[in-house]
Amino acid sequence: MSSPSAATAAENRIRAEVGRRRTFAIISHPDAGKTTLTEKLLLFGGAIQLAGQVRARGENRRTRSDWMKIERERGISVVTSVMTFEYGGHVFNLLDTPGHEDFSEDTYRTLTAVDSAVMVIDAAKGIEARTRKLFEVCRLRDIPIVTFVNKLDREARDPFETLDEIEKTLALDTAPVTWPVGSGRDFVGTYDLASRRTRLMNEKGEDHRDEIDDAALDELLAARHLSDKREEIEIAREGTARFDVQAFREGHLTPVFWGSALRNFGIKDLLDGLGAFAPAPRDQRADTREVHADEEKMSAFVFKIQANMDPNHRDRIAFVRLCSGRLQRGMKVRHVRSGKTMSLHTPQFFFAQERQLAEEAFAGDVVGLPNHGTLRIGDTLTEGEDLTFVGVPSFAPEILRRLRLEDAMKAKKLKQAMQELAEEGVVQLFRPVDGSPALVGFVGALQLDVLQNRLEQEYGLEVGFETSQYNMARWVGGERQAVADFAAANRSALAEDVDGDPVLLSSSGYAFNYVREKWPSVRFTDVKEIQ
Ligand code: G4P
Repeated sequence: MSSPSAATAAENRIRAEVGRRRTFAIISHPDAGKTTLTEKLLLFGGAIQLAGQVRARGENRRTRSDWMKIERERGISVVTSVMTFEYGGHVFNLLDTPGHEDFSEDTYRTLTAVDSAVMVIDAAKGIEARTRKLFEVCRLRDIPIVTFVNKLDREARDPFETLDEIEKTLALDTAPVTWPVGSGRDFVGTYDLASRRTRLMNEKGEDHRDEIDDAALDELLAARHLSDKREEIEIAREGTARFDVQAFREGHLTPVFWGSALRNFGIKDLLDGLGAFAPAPRDQRADTREVHADEEKMSAFVFKIQANMDPNHRDRIAFVRLCSGRLQRGMKVRHVRSGKTMSLHTPQFFFAQERQLAEEAFAGDVVGLPNHGTLRIGDTLTEGEDLTFVGVPSFAPEILRRLRLEDAMKAKKLKQAMQELAEEGVVQLFRPVDGSPALVGFVGALQLDVLQNRLEQEYGLEVGFETSQYNMARWVGGERQAVADFAAANRSALAEDVDGDPVLLSSSGYAFNYVREKWPSVRFTDVKEIQ
């Protein structure tokens, strides 16, 4: 048995480690600069290896897998990974979200695993469609947002206009921390509204930056015929809201930073801001209670499954977000859904395409757990407690298809493959209760290619797609009796998802509305929270 003082030391260590973690994602519209900013953040973070926590495995630079081929061909990112770096005493876990709209389901799930988000906006374009959509998901979950207005080295909109747009379209208050002095060819640098010093943009990037005071700035602006910028700064200083950490944490206000990811400018301010304001791992809601991040016992949930990371090993990686305590390699945990015990022999940290064994990890961290299908999205792992984290969503498919198998002898194999892929969250599977062939649900069109490709490469199955009379699926909920009555009366349009939950299939929005109006006591939803 450990002594009381040892227990306290362990508790203190967990508290300190958890407190310095910042787990975040970047949300943006394609082309706003997410990839460039990610690269620059990693560069700034220096080594992406946490001293003492990981043991490098040299041979582990993995060959790219098959759907990375699709990614390469199409120039899009379909892989979600996590990048860890240390800077200014903080450990940053940046969860990468797939860039393509078709993979929004993965993106949304990734947002369930972060504590804050950086919203990247193109200084010339302002808020774009996808940014708004992702922002709405963040708002639903009260995820605080830090804004980075990018591409100031190009012609940009008036900064007041950009702030105004954020406030109006997102109903989010803004508090600029820095202010851009000019833009495009006239981009001088950023003015720190609190310290009243200007950081000058230079060709070498921010590591070599120069700072000047107001008097020197006045001279510089006069020499470049930009004196009107001085007035603008004063208006910004006097007329914009001060940063309020509580309003930020509650999701009502965003601190705004300006810069150029490409020119490596403004990155340090952003990182300093994240370290200073962004919340440490938050408490997580479970079915029985709230779990506090600095509790000593480890708990985690699966928010993503990825198969085929390595074509040589047909393993699946479950990405788990640690919600509390400390994970140690080799520890035994309870897989709550099955009630079974699992040993965590090979937890791994992922760094873009590389992986390393994780000897230990803390709440806020994301580790990958290789497994052969035991772990599903939404599953909870604990040190024994019977609790399940709630809130990992599934989204209603936008496309429904039936599969046509080229070789009818392989029907059994296809059934098994589809069950595995559905559990992994690659596609959704709906089995009509009348016994007719299953329907496959896709959230975006690219998912069809991914499925076809994976069935062929991993299972040796050639399939085509056929349309069916159904175009919509909605989960059915409500009081038990109401759902039972509904199911009895609508058997021909009823299916079960991979968890056995009832789903209504409809041929059109019109048909769906007809049913919905007829059954007011039943709830139909297009998002299912995995419980
Ligand atoms: P994304 O991941 O959000 O889709 O954006 P990404 O970083 O790929 O950037 C999209 C384009 O915008 C890239 O140009 C990139 O170089 C450019 N970019 C990103 N940040 C800045 C910036 O601060 N200033 C300027 N001027 N450009 C920026 P591209 O021509 O599409 O690609 P590439 O040929 O440069 O790689």
